[in-house]
Amino acid sequence: MSRPLRVLHVAAEMFPFVKTGGLADVTAALPAALQEAGVDVRVLLPGYPAVLDAMGKSRKVFEGTGLYGAARVTLQQGTLRGSTVPAYVIDAPYLYSREGGPYQDGTGHEWRDNLQRYAQLGWCGAHLAGGDIDERWQPHILHAHDWHAALASLMLRLHPARTARSVFTIHNLAYQGRFPLADFHLLGLPSQCLHGLDGMEFHGDISFMKAGLIGADAITTVSPSYAREITTAEFGCGLEGVLRSRTHDLHGILNGVDPAVWNPATDAHLAARYDVTSLDGKAQCKTVLQQQMGLAVRREAPLFAVVSRLSQQKGLDLLLEALPALIEAGGQLVLLGSGDAALEAAFRDAARAHPAAVAVQLGYDETLAHRIIAGADAIVLPSRFEPCGLTQLYGLRYGTVPIVRRVGGLIDTVDEVTGFGFLEPERTLTEALRLAVEEYATPATWQARMREGMRRDHGWSNAASRYVTLYQSLLQAAASPS
Ligand code: ADP
Ligand code: GLC
Repeated sequence: MSRPLRVLHVAAEMFPFVKTGGLADVTAALPAALQEAGVDVRVLLPGYPAVLDAMGKSRKVFEGTGLYGAARVTLQQGTLRGSTVPAYVIDAPYLYSREGGPYQDGTGHEWRDNLQRYAQLGWCGAHLAGGDIDERWQPHILHAHDWHAALASLMLRLHPARTARSVFTIHNLAYQGRFPLADFHLLGLPSQCLHGLDGMEFHGDISFMKAGLIGADAITTVSPSYAREITTAEFGCGLEGVLRSRTHDLHGILNGVDPAVWNPATDAHLAARYDVTSLDGKAQCKTVLQQQMGLAVRREAPLFAVVSRLSQQKGLDLLLEALPALIEAGGQLVLLGSGDAALEAAFRDAARAHPAAVAVQLGYDETLAHRIIAGADAIVLPSRFEPCGLTQLYGLRYGTVPIVRRVGGLIDTVDEVTGFGFLEPERTLTEALRLAVEEYATPATWQARMREGMRRDHGWSNAASRYVTLYQSLLQAAASPS
């Protein structure tokens, strides 16, 4: 293609401005990787306070009133501090200007108007892609991420002047954006969007996720294994039928690691830096971490780590069960996370009972996350399902051996050379941890495993070129008569 391909990414999170999980890491790194590959890429984000604060000089491209309850909505185009990717930001104080998280208030309750808040995001995405918002820039491809942005795909499909094609990426099928059927009228969509095979009705609710799946020209998810899994009842969250009906349009493209953020040779959060040719700095990071977390400072103790949301998905109840055997074998655990109150309490109790062997920090802490991933010997992901998972990739890059349940993206990123996999009944987490503790006692073998993981390619360029190929195939299909 001689003209650069223009692509608009629509998302509810972007690191470092707003992040609740790996989605934000991806929506920061993928557009930057596409830009590097020559794509003319922009992002569209809701104007939460942190996003508006990061916006430098901007140009107003749109002003509206009365949309989704907001008295005034403007769309600003500019660049966010530290980012090279031009951004559109929806300035709608009534919808986005509040203290708390992007989806929940400070007490963990969903915002009551999430339907309107993310319908607004979808509307802006569809109309930018439809060409009636910014006369200076119109994308060839609209790329929407997760349920928050899903209506962009459906609304673009309905746009009378649509030329752009759309891609919808599932980062996590378990979060679907479900709202009462009675609120459908608030979306301003025609009634044929609700019922039937091609409707967004789902078990008596409306589902934004389903709208994305039926509205997009192509669907992607963040690993090949998860792409297969979600067409089954076990992992499909009730949407496996819809996904099976679109198998030919469903692609699994593995996430990568943002080298600007996660690189042990340059990471400013660390006490010492290192790379595959010289691991001394990693040993220093371990000692500093053991000290900082109040663990016994023992070089010979294998230090296992978790950096995670504490949700059912992440399977950390399995780690609680395996913990006594791990401590008995001389291992240590450091955990950073927050979420489920019962899990938080159980890990806090474990740390109280075994202060030299278990350290727990509840909450969200970017610097500590880096220090843990650098300072630990192994990172544990016993996930029940995992669309991709990023912390095992960070672990690989930092010489921190992943111990993973063999599901989803964990299958595609960790093998028996670089880490330890388990899947019951053949192997339990307890057994995988035991194998790791045993191998750790032979430093040469353990270090060979670390180095192998560090040498693997974890970059974004592979994924970026796969997305470009997909974008181009959609445009070619649209241009050729069927
Ligand atoms: P998910 O998106 O399902 O939570 P991922 O592994 O894709 O899982 O991404 C999680 C991201 O969130 C990683 O960047 C990880 O470092 C970060 N993270 C998770 N919990 C915390 C925490 N408590 N403090 C800091 N960073 C965290
Ligand atoms: C989701 C998934 C996680 C994935 C991330 C980024 O939050 O739970 O597995 O790595 O999105 O795609």
